[in-house]
Amino acid sequence: MRVLVTGGAQGIGLAVCKKLEENGHEAISADKQEQADCIYLDVTSEESWETVFNSVGPFDGLVNCAGIRTRNLIVDTTFEEFQRHMDVNITGTWLGIREMFRHRSNQPASTSFTPASIVNIASVNAVIAVPAQAHYVASKTAVVGLTKAAAIEGAPIGVRVNAIAPGAIRTPMTEERLVDPEQVAWLEGRIPVGRVGEPDEMASVASFLLSDGASYITGTTVFADGGWTANGV
Ligand code: NAI
Repeated sequence: MRVLVTGGAQGIGLAVCKKLEENGHEAISADKQEQADCIYLDVTSEESWETVFNSVGPFDGLVNCAGIRTRNLIVDTTFEEFQRHMDVNITGTWLGIREMFRHRSNQPASTSFTPASIVNIASVNAVIAVPAQAHYVASKTAVVGLTKAAAIEGAPIGVRVNAIAPGAIRTPMTEERLVDPEQVAWLEGRIPVGRVGEPDEMASVASFLLSDGASYITGTTVFADGGWTANGV
């Protein structure tokens, strides 16, 4: 399997690349950060997606990990900050899906489609909200809806589309929060398994959703959150 992983420079994206390579697949890591192991991709740019697919494609899999998150109450959030979250977290995911679909649809009519799979990264915040995150919550809720709609259109061209909703995972994005013992204690009390998650635990789920083992799964969001969203207490 050849899989393009966005946001592959660090955190969950990096763990997905490592897991795929461990399992004998080829992971093409793409990120806006210039790094030796990554090709350049700005997920918000149509041209950037086209360049990557035309120069490095085709791909059997795509994992849309690139994402951003800032903290601000609605009253303090600038228009640009809100828009930026939409651009990266939802438009960036949509552009990747569109590019994958277009490349599949452009195959000759005689071609029988080999299975392909897309995994989007949503968040528990798609279904549970926290203060000072409205822009992030809105963008991640949209990823869940987009995943369902894309699954319907992907099925006739052999592309399954699913999402993962991670809980609190130890990555550079959450570093600032997870160095605060009070925040960690709050999370550990709130999450039934009693700990934050590791990027490798998200990579395992992505690897499964990309694999033939998930051949009858499409349009769903897997909550990989240590039971956080199941906990009503
Ligand atoms: P991270 O901040 O460690 O990594 C995100 C990566 O995305 C970075 O390498 C960054 O350079 C890249 N990126 C940002 N904007 C980009 C752009 N325009 N084009 C290309 N690449 C871009 O974050 P982390 O934690 O690895 O998150 C990965 C995904 O998982 C994100 O979508 C995040 O919202 C989601 N998530 C993370 C959770 C966590 O607890 N860490 C919880 C729920 C969801």
